Amino acid sequence: MNILVTGSDGQVGHELLKSLAPLGNVIGLTRADGDLSDVLVVEALLDKYDPHVVINPAAYTAVDPAESESELAFTLNARMPESLARWTRAHDRFLVHFSTDYVYPGHGVSPQTEDEPTSPASVYGQSKLAGDEAILREDPSALIFRTSWVYGARGRNFMLTMLRLAAEKSKLTVVSDQFGAPTPAWLIAQVTSIALQSRLAGNTELNGVLHLSCRGETSWCGFAREIIHQARQKGHRLTMKDDQVLPIPTSEYPAPAPRPANSRLAVDRIELLLGITLPDWKRALSITLADLQGRRGT
Ligand SMILES: NC(=O)c1ccc[n+]([C@@H]2O[C@H](COP(=O)([O-])OP(=O)(O)OC[C@H]3O[C@@H](n4cnc5c(N)ncnc54)[C@H](OP(=O)(O)O)[C@@H]3O)[C@@H](O)[C@H]2O)c1
Repeated sequence: MNILVTGSDGQVGHELLKSLAPLGNVIGLTRADGDLSDVLVVEALLDKYDPHVVINPAAYTAVDPAESESELAFTLNARMPESLARWTRAHDRFLVHFSTDYVYPGHGVSPQTEDEPTSPASVYGQSKLAGDEAILREDPSALIFRTSWVYGARGRNFMLTMLRLAAEKSKLTVVSDQFGAPTPAWLIAQVTSIALQSRLAGNTELNGVLHLSCRGETSWCGFAREIIHQARQKGHRLTMKDDQVLPIPTSEYPAPAPRPANSRLAVDRIELLLGITLPDWKRALSITLADLQGRRGT
């Protein structure tokens, strides 16, 4: 079985190369293999590798630059997945795509279910929603995981930024009125692998939109404090202590793109469909920090 993974240099894509390896011949596509903003390139790559399964973590993920680069964001996040879905439908193949909590308005304080009405406030969110809608229209058998606050031991992400700043500074202010569940890329990749196995075993309920994030919730400030707390416990040499991370409201950290105040995602449906229990975000952070130590050899 050929499994094509786009964006395999990205956070989730890189982890997918490992988690999917036992299931078949995994082909990872990086930017060097072709520019996915060109529909003809996308179609040529699909025809060349003729994959049984297409997994698409490639995306335009720069939330603030998207506000001024909407054409590119929509090309990558809407038209590219639309081409994938058209191909997988025409060839009777399976497509797995990744989306975001940014498609929701992000109001309220409770976890949002898959039935929550969408209403993205940012260009990034609008482009991702356009991608989800195009996939559902072109290939209803495709599976779309909506996730949140992705981080990992490699790539550009909040955890690595906090570790760097905590080794350089003695004080930091972080937004404390946006809530969600930090979700490591390795977890998304492992659950994708479980879902693919389940689908191949005949689980036809695995299609449409499913939420995939850690359990529990925190703010960005709470996440930053826990990163520093756990990293110090694991022996990282940091100048900053967790109580030197000070909370600020979103209004004191202006950014071009609006962020949802509520990024909480209900994960009961995916747990039921796959028979899994997703880990609490603090436990997942501990595993990710251990992974980082392993990679750095500390
Ligand atoms: N990061 C988050 O916090 C977050 C939250 C919720 C949902 N998601 C979604 O989860 C998925 C995976 O996110 P991630 O954090 O793993 O993203 P990422 O690390 O930014 O990876 C995206 C990948 O897409 C590739 N790519 C972008 N434009 C391309 C182009 N024109 N041609 C070829 N490749 C291109 C990038 O290549 P280069 O490295 O060469 O640029 C990169 O390898 C995405 O669908 C994202 O929208 C992410």
